[in-house]
Amino acid sequence: MTLSQHKLTQLLTNPVRYYGSVDSTNDLAKQWLIDGGQAFSIIVADEQRKGRGRKGRFWYTPPGVALAVSMILKPTPQQASRMSMVGALAVAELCDSVGVQDVGIKWPNDVQISGKKVSGILPEAVWQDGQLLGVVLGMGVNVRVQFEGELAQTATSLETVCGCALDRSELVTVLAERVRFWMQQPDATLVKTWQSRLNTLGREVWVEDVVGKAVAVDESGALLIETQDGTMQRVLAGDLSLLPPQDEDE
Ligand code: BTN
Repeated sequence: MTLSQHKLTQLLTNPVRYYGSVDSTNDLAKQWLIDGGQAFSIIVADEQRKGRGRKGRFWYTPPGVALAVSMILKPTPQQASRMSMVGALAVAELCDSVGVQDVGIKWPNDVQISGKKVSGILPEAVWQDGQLLGVVLGMGVNVRVQFEGELAQTATSLETVCGCALDRSELVTVLAERVRFWMQQPDATLVKTWQSRLNTLGREVWVEDVVGKAVAVDESGALLIETQDGTMQRVLAGDLSLLPPQDEDE
């Protein structure tokens, strides 16, 4: 069940490049895009030495236990802000496909199983001479990463939850197919379906310096938060924390 160029080429219709160990699959996909890589081309790595998470954080991808996948996408500039929705939905459906229950998306794009993070999405746009060349959609999925201590409270792996052995090449194939599917849907359908899988709406939240009730999202993916003084704040991006539920009579 090891990943290989041969197996991925057999399974995928997309152009695919496989590497045993890289700094970051997003960096290789960006270079491929600049060199003329076509839409839906995929970089897959077994290990990342300098995997990147949101806000410049390190993303842990040790060998043999995860998916580190970056796909070249060619959205219009108007669609570009929705590429993280495409990634989050594709990963959520990948989790569904192996029979896992209680899969949700924590705004903006963390895929969770029963509230524990199983995947992170990092879209990165590439511009050339003021034109959008494309977006590299980086997707990291914990397949059999063993989390210990405090991390085990907040992160999980697909195999841990499904209690089954999974083939990472087959998972990449499903992921690629779901990304292609969502790229072909009307924008309104994409937003509506992403919204329906958010486990954040209706909850008391804290994002950056805004605290209040997460009431809705808009078509660009921004979160609308109703604060205590009744005003509506629009938050485009950030780390979200869920606040504990308050008693009604407090
Ligand atoms: C997050 O912080 O939640 C986003 C993590 C994104 C990780 C993926 S793994 C494949 C791709 N290559 C990277 O360096 N990062 C993304």
